[in-house]
Amino acid sequence: MAGRLWVLSSVVLMLTMLVAAKWQGSSSQPADIAAIKAQEACRDCHRQISTNHAQNAHSGLTCTQCHPNALEHQDADDPAKVLPVVDFRAEVCGSCHKFQYETYFMSEPGVAGIYGGTPANPHDHPKTKDFPLYNKIVAGHGFTKEYNEDRSHKFILRDHIDVKRPKNAACLNCKSTHVAYYWGREFKGIVLNETAKWDEVIARIPKEMHDYGVSCNQCHDPHSTQLRIINKGLKAAIAERGVNPYWQEKNAKSFEEADKQQKETLLCAQCHVEYVCGPGVDKKVRFVYSWRKVRDLDDFYRSEFNYMQDWVHAIIEEPLIKSQHPEVELFWESKYERSGASCVTCHMPKVKVNGRTLTSHWLVSPLRYIDGFVKGERLGAFPCGQCHSVSPQILKAQVLRVQKHVDEAQKRVQQALSESIDAIAAAKKSQKEGKTVNEQLLRQAVRLHQIAHLRWENLVVSENSMGFHNPEEVMKELNEAMDYARQAQMLALQSAGLVTKPESQ
Ligand code: HEC
Ligand code: HEC
Ligand code: HEC
Ligand code: HEC
Ligand code: HEC
Ligand code: HEC
Ligand code: HEC
Repeated sequence: MAGRLWVLSSVVLMLTMLVAAKWQGSSSQPADIAAIKAQEACRDCHRQISTNHAQNAHSGLTCTQCHPNALEHQDADDPAKVLPVVDFRAEVCGSCHKFQYETYFMSEPGVAGIYGGTPANPHDHPKTKDFPLYNKIVAGHGFTKEYNEDRSHKFILRDHIDVKRPKNAACLNCKSTHVAYYWGREFKGIVLNETAKWDEVIARIPKEMHDYGVSCNQCHDPHSTQLRIINKGLKAAIAERGVNPYWQEKNAKSFEEADKQQKETLLCAQCHVEYVCGPGVDKKVRFVYSWRKVRDLDDFYRSEFNYMQDWVHAIIEEPLIKSQHPEVELFWESKYERSGASCVTCHMPKVKVNGRTLTSHWLVSPLRYIDGFVKGERLGAFPCGQCHSVSPQILKAQVLRVQKHVDEAQKRVQQALSESIDAIAAAKKSQKEGKTVNEQLLRQAVRLHQIAHLRWENLVVSENSMGFHNPEEVMKELNEAMDYARQAQMLALQSAGLVTKPESQ
């Protein structure tokens, strides 16, 4: 597989011409490109895009190379009635950028570490395999219907389409570049917003993109070729709190003003963050990025949404928070972030391809790159070497050690949460049977359970690195969660007289 990876080199220029020729149906002489350019009066009406295009790496391309029928559009009496093709398929970019295209679509089933990796079939690796009490802890939530270990970017939309749980259009912002790009605007006859119907949106996404959904123009402006973000939820969060609310010196006001490290992390923050998407307890559909660390989430959801944004737990009958995948928020304040790494540093390493340094677009566990590096494979890489001088094998073993410690700690919290659920349920049962229950103690118990639940579910189940991205923070929060869950259990039992208060308290 790696052996077939192609090279971008001076050939690119030739390819440019060839593709142009193919799409234009003309010969491959540079003079023709000039001739096409002379015909293109796009700038008259599309000034900003034409300027972006002319000033950057794609200036050698004609507009019609990506918008084949644009001349007919331009010459029409009403250009708005003869719209040119707007093609989001990765094949368009891949025709000239073969290496990035091929690596982006790599997916090798198999397990790099113990806690990560890509299952061949997502249904074979439900999250309950790693977290056996999960369905009890989130009882009543849609995720109990099906929730699997993540696969590679090659299957972003496919795995969402196939999963058996309720879906809505807002979720598609992280599964489809079309949805993210046109969110808030008209897209093929419907307006994309919280009230759009999921299946009507899916029907408008080209079939060829139903597996991967997220394309090159999610992170690259096709005209300027610069890195960009298009997700509106993230943009709104940045407008309110800056690009990194937990690092004042780096907290630029917009993506464009951010430094390279922040930009690279923001690309991933379009999706690898906690957000509220979909109907809450109050049936209201929201699409909001909280853009906060776990320690600030509970207060925020209480004040902002009255805790109605997610669901009511089926056993304790109280609202709880269901997190998404907060890789970015956990990464903030980590030793890696503070020493200059971004998500791209470890997950998109630079590799040498026939003398050129290119960026691998295979978004996978870095342990897979380390294994490849040790075996001398073409797509092997050791990005960690920028900061570490130990051998790749030793460093990998250290990663697994850190993850094992986190896993052991989280297992105890999982058990404590399960027992706190039982205690709250028992107290409520007493209450329903008409027995006296100290409401104040029971409320305290529920409150502590909510906070403990949030920390465990957010940091170890929804977050995908089993603590690696910031072990110190995860261990601290799990420690607190353990304490809160046990207190919740005790207070709930006390509230219903199911256990007597110890004298010493
Ligand atoms: C006389 C003005 C005019 C010229 C010249 C013109 N366009 Fe347009 N273009 C429009 C209008 C009007 C629209 C529709 C805008 C809208 O709906 O928001 C449009 C839309 C587009 C779209 C978006 C299509 C879509 O479905 O969203 C593309 C792509 C485009 N033009 C490319 C080009 C290119 C490439 C050229 C040069 C070959 C060009 N245009 C020349 C007026 C023009
Ligand atoms: C490398 C391929 C490529 C080239 C070259 C290219 N475009 Fe585009 N264009 C796209 C893609 C992809 C989109 C979809 C929107 C996005 O991702 O920003 C797009 C969208 C557009 C739109 C619609 C913007 C909107 O928001 O509705 C216009 C207008 C447009 N292009 C004009 C041009 C003009 C004018 C040129 C030449 C100066 C040009 N394009 C060259 C790929 C290209
Ligand atoms: C017809 C060929 C062609 C197509 C199609 C094409 N590109 Fe390019 N691209 C080039 C050339 C030529 C360069 C400049 C030389 C280089 O960097 O390899 C370039 C450069 C780039 C760069 C590097 C910019 C830099 O400053 O380093 C990015 C990123 C890029 N293209 C993204 C895209 C994306 C995304 C698409 C699809 C929307 C696309 N390209 C489609 C030919 C193409
Ligand atoms: C998740 C975001 C993301 C997506 C999606 C993405 N890229 Fe990139 N791309 C990057 C980053 C980050 C870089 C490195 C930029 C840098 O070092 O300045 C990069 C670099 C590039 C470059 C410059 C040469 C290089 O290898 O460093 C090209 C060309 C490119 N990408 C093409 C593509 C193509 C083609 C696709 C779709 C198949 C794509 N990208 C999808 C993030 C992305
Ligand atoms: C548009 C949304 C989006 C963006 C942007 C995005 N991701 Fe993802 N990513 C996903 C989704 C969704 C999945 C899960 C896919 C599945 O299970 O089918 C995923 C999966 C992954 C995986 C797991 C792969 C595996 O084999 O298990 C890694 C690693 C990853 N992404 C890293 C990144 C990094 C690093 C960035 C930024 C450079 C990034 N992603 C940008 C949506 C995104
Ligand atoms: C210092 C290197 C490093 C940085 C920086 C980093 N990661 Fe990771 N990431 C890892 C390691 C190591 C793992 C654990 C992989 C495993 O268990 O196989 C991991 C795991 C993941 C996973 C789960 C992969 C899987 O196979 O299921 C995702 C998704 C992910 N990271 C996304 C991100 C995002 C997004 C960022 C930026 C906020 C980021 N990472 C920053 C090293 C890093
Ligand atoms: C930008 C610099 C940087 C990069 C890149 C980086 N690290 Fe680190 N890493 C650090 C720092 C700083 C520490 C803490 C100080 C120390 O232990 O040397 C650390 C510590 C560690 C530890 C010990 C963690 C603990 O909690 O005991 C492991 C394991 C580790 N790194 C693995 C990796 C792996 C694997 C990669 C590549 C995928 C990587 N690092 C990339 C900076 C980096």
